[in-house]
Amino acid sequence: MKKIVIFASGSGSNAEKIAEYFKDKCLLIERIYCNNPQAGVIARAERLGIPCRVFNREEYKSGQILHELQADSPDLIVLAGFLWLIPASFVQAFPNKMINLHPALLPKFGGKGMYGHHVHDAVVAQKEKESGITIHFVNEHYDEGNIIFQGSYPVLPSDTADDVASKGQVLEHKHFPEVIEKLLFN
Ligand code: GAR
Repeated sequence: MKKIVIFASGSGSNAEKIAEYFKDKCLLIERIYCNNPQAGVIARAERLGIPCRVFNREEYKSGQILHELQADSPDLIVLAGFLWLIPASFVQAFPNKMINLHPALLPKFGGKGMYGHHVHDAVVAQKEKESGITIHFVNEHYDEGNIIFQGSYPVLPSDTADDVASKGQVLEHKHFPEVIEKLLFN
C-alpha cells in the first residue's frame, strides 16, 4: 500500500478528486495538511474520512510540521492548491517526492503571488490564446521545479477569468490523479 499526504489551502476539489480516483486502489491518503482554518478542504476531509491537520505559521516554520510529515513517511507529498512557499528543509527531506499543481503553462504565469484567480485574471488581461495546467516537482522556489506534465486548452477572446478557471479545473481533475498514479506505480 502506497501512502500520500496532501497539502491544501483552499476548497480542496483536487484533493477530493484524488480521493475518489484512488478509492479501492492500493493507495492511502494518510492525511491532509491545511494552513487555512477557513478552507473548504477541512469539511471535505471530514466527509471523506481523511484525517486533517490544520496548522499555523509558527508550527510550519519551527519544524513541527516537518517532524509530523517525517513520522507519516509518505511515498509522495502532493500540493493541491497549497499557497505557502515550501521550506528548503522539506525539499531536502523529501527529494523528488513532492509535486505541485499549477493552473497555467509554466514558466508563464508562475512565481510568488501567482495563484488561483490571479493567474486566470492575468491570462485574460494578456489576451493569451491558450492556457493550461502544469504538474511539477517542488524545489525551494515557487513554481520552478522540473515539469512532469502539462496540458493545455484554448482561451477564446470572449472567455472571462471564470471561464478560463473552469477549463483548467477540468484538466486538473482528470490529470492530477493519473500523474500521481504513474509516479507511484510505474
Ligand atoms: C487549483 O486550481 C490549483 O491549480 C491552484 O489552486 C487551485 C486549488 O483548487 N494552485 C495554485 O494556484 C498554486 N500556485 P482546489 O482547492 O479546488 O483543489
